Amino acid sequence: MARLYDSEEVSQAIEGMACRIAERHGRGASFAIVGIANGGIRLGRRLATILSEKLGRDIPFGVLNAQFHRDDIGSRPIPKAFMRTDIPFDISDSTVILVDDVIGSGRTVRASMNEIFDHGRPAKVELAMLCDRGDRGLPVAPDYVGMHVEAAHDELVLVSIGDTASAKDCVKVGPGVPNPLQDLSGSEVECWTRKDLVGIEELSREEIDLVHSLAASFKETLERRQKKLPSLRGKTVVNLFMEPSTRTRVAFEIAAKRLSADVITITEGASSIVKGETLKDTAMNIQALNADMIVLRHKSSGAAQYLSKLMRVPVVNAGDGAHGHPTQALLDTFTLREKLGQDLTGRKITILGDVLFSRVARSNIWALRKLGAKVTLAGPNTLVPRQFEQMGVEVVHDLRRALADADAVMLLRIQHERQTSTLFPSLKEYTASFGLNKLRSTWLKPGAIIMHPGPINRGVEIDSDLADSSQSVILEQVTNGIVNRMAVLYLCANAAAVMQANERKFY
Ligand code: CP
Repeated sequence: MARLYDSEEVSQAIEGMACRIAERHGRGASFAIVGIANGGIRLGRRLATILSEKLGRDIPFGVLNAQFHRDDIGSRPIPKAFMRTDIPFDISDSTVILVDDVIGSGRTVRASMNEIFDHGRPAKVELAMLCDRGDRGLPVAPDYVGMHVEAAHDELVLVSIGDTASAKDCVKVGPGVPNPLQDLSGSEVECWTRKDLVGIEELSREEIDLVHSLAASFKETLERRQKKLPSLRGKTVVNLFMEPSTRTRVAFEIAAKRLSADVITITEGASSIVKGETLKDTAMNIQALNADMIVLRHKSSGAAQYLSKLMRVPVVNAGDGAHGHPTQALLDTFTLREKLGQDLTGRKITILGDVLFSRVARSNIWALRKLGAKVTLAGPNTLVPRQFEQMGVEVVHDLRRALADADAVMLLRIQHERQTSTLFPSLKEYTASFGLNKLRSTWLKPGAIIMHPGPINRGVEIDSDLADSSQSVILEQVTNGIVNRMAVLYLCANAAAVMQANERKFY
């Protein structure tokens, strides 16, 4: 690529932009700088620093990611390092100056305007662009331009901005159409490329981090005055629930609706499965009816994997037999990170109850191990056999020892529907030996949290008062189910669209 402007020229251009902003706003009402991810962040921060020095007052600086408002979902995979919108000040009635490194078609600016107005109602929005490469597709004109760059439609304009004024900045132009799997320097970008979410076991640590980072972004969007995002507008999500569910089904419905998708829920009793139709035929017919995604809950382990191999559209596992419940583990670990801090390394998490038949336990073991936590399984030896040690966890049958030093205890319900023989004398006996009650909760260290995926059986695995106590985060887990499912739907829909666009199978 040819170097068009060197460090000194770029610094001069940034200085020139700052002077023009200061001239216009120096004595006027308040204004703030908001950098558009990714290229506008360093540039915006540099401008805010220069302007703060020039004007002798702090110029507020925020970061904006317009990803959820883009009209080209599926044009590229989502990078694993996702920068979330962070505007830590009130923008109402002030001037917001949106900053980016390059303006071309103007589509990023259009999406950024929608994102900013979801946060509040600024008096005025202005645009500051280091490079204007022309080639506009929308009626968008920047208010401040650092430099005009001559570049053909199929050429790349690459801007490099350092963290400090003395950094080696530059602007390069060269041939090349962006490769969705490479960044502009040609390096391979780590991206989410899965159209399906079948299990936690196949996810990398970085993929779990990306889901959580997106979920945190979505959580922030649910506190805005405008809560609905347009990302999945025009898509149809079909919830195929072949087993009873309250939390997962409703959370997936709300998640899809918050992303503007149309949602249809089908339960086993209301489907033609009761007339003898197979799962495969049911799913194929749903796909033929133009569904864009299928969320599947099924009593058979492996059902989601089976469908994902047959379907062109994404399949998301909402719980399959005793195999897995990946979105439950994602929301549980998200809640743990909120409560205990992002780094779970070395944290002791005790899972207590019917581990043998629990898909929640299996998915959580995978997720917690990938996040570096120490997992202890506890319960009667018939429900918590030593074979689980092969998954890198500790198996303890002494409840006091299992609870001691735990940062969190995750309770499980006795899964009557999956047990084929009686593995303990009675529920009463289970409660007497392993139920979490007031006395036993004192064996936990102060501040340890109590979790449960639900549905809870009050008075069986957990004392009713404890379920409602301040130690319990059970309902926060349920709320976090919405944003983690929004993240999964968004990522899988995007990956499927990229695959279709590229006619390329990633996984
Ligand atoms: N935790 C959970 O999966 O609950 P539901 O069965 O109500 O979806």
